[in-house]
Amino acid sequence: MTELPILQKEEQRTPASVWSWLRTLSAKAIRGRQGPPATPPGRIDRRRFENRRTLDEEVRLESIALRSQPTTLILEPATACNLKCPFCPTGGGYSGLAKEQLTPENFQTIADRFDVELLDEVLLYNWGEPFLNRHLPEYIEFFSKHNVHTEISVNLSTKDYDDAFNERIVASGIGRIIVSIDGATQASYEKYRVGGNLARVLKNMTGLADAKARLGLDQPQILYKMLLHRYNEHEVDDARRLAAECGVEFLLDDKFWCPDEHRAEWNATAVEDRPEHEPMMALGESSEGVMSTFCRQLWDTVVVNANGDVLPCCLIYKSEQAVGNLLTESLDSIRNGEAMQTLRRYVTDASHAGPGRSNHCEECDARWCTVKAS
Ligand SMILES: C[S@@+](CC[C@H](N)C(=O)[O-])C[C@H]1O[C@@H](n2cnc3c(N)ncnc32)[C@H](O)[C@@H]1O
Ligand code: SF4
Repeated sequence: MTELPILQKEEQRTPASVWSWLRTLSAKAIRGRQGPPATPPGRIDRRRFENRRTLDEEVRLESIALRSQPTTLILEPATACNLKCPFCPTGGGYSGLAKEQLTPENFQTIADRFDVELLDEVLLYNWGEPFLNRHLPEYIEFFSKHNVHTEISVNLSTKDYDDAFNERIVASGIGRIIVSIDGATQASYEKYRVGGNLARVLKNMTGLADAKARLGLDQPQILYKMLLHRYNEHEVDDARRLAAECGVEFLLDDKFWCPDEHRAEWNATAVEDRPEHEPMMALGESSEGVMSTFCRQLWDTVVVNANGDVLPCCLIYKSEQAVGNLLTESLDSIRNGEAMQTLRRYVTDASHAGPGRSNHCEECDARWCTVKAS
């Protein structure tokens, strides 16, 4: 059996990596729970099917250079935010990404780099507040025209939105809107969502739900997502009730992350005994000598910051870890460039030397996700 490096020690994990890990799990959990995005029928389906099959094979074979096209695009509309959630790199002020807005010109340049019809989903959010970009509806509409599922996660506390805006958003074809509302009262909500206004958020969310009903639409799915922590755990039932009153679905997320020194204060009592660093998976869970992995981002996903920088995965919030820029380089030259190939080799081969450049894989909990078990 391959001897795995000891990455479980606390000192080898940065808080950010753990936070990001939980965040990724949470996002995957939402997507997993809600089922895969709908795919359109016909020719596009067949091309997507073939591409996914190639991609699956490349993951299984731990291919370093890829023939497949990416199936997930994470595109940041705005890196800045109006709130100051303390444990978020953006709200906490420790993000190393340029605080920019995605302009329509740059959006088109970036979108044109992709075989858009092969994308399964586009997440128009990462480290900032998507609604700070007034062009967001256009971006969603672009992908909808290509039958690609889109979703956003928003704090909805930016300003009061009117009926016209709400109708434009729900009619844009967006598949899912996740609204981050961590509580049912202003006091508990603003403990984490610092600077947020719960009454405004609820009004805006109701406005979206009403617009959807008015237009007789089946989608988007609108979720009241409550990150559970010590200051809001007594309000779960109230939040669930509020969600129903607003005409949206409720989602309780117990993957709240905070640094070790704040856990006693912040962790909900229901999860306080949970080991913070549960191993991603055990070797015993491996099948056919290869551990299954929850994270395939180096293979199937392309993460693009608002300034065109391509980041190897959604956990990265430092510009120096960018592997290229889609405003000036082709997708293939980045995806199959030396930096990405080195990272893929690094996470699949325990004996391979580190990438030798600033990177996240060395400190990531999913680092050994695809190491062969024997
Ligand atoms: C960085 S935010 C950006 C999108 C948007 N501003 C928002 O808050 O929904 C992306 C996701 O991270 C989640 N998040 C923020 N702080 C978190 C924390 N401490 N632990 C786990 N998830 C967190 C948010 O709820 C959101 O769904
Ligand atoms: S609202 Fe979202 S992006 Fe803004 S500080 Fe909070 S978690 Fe970060």
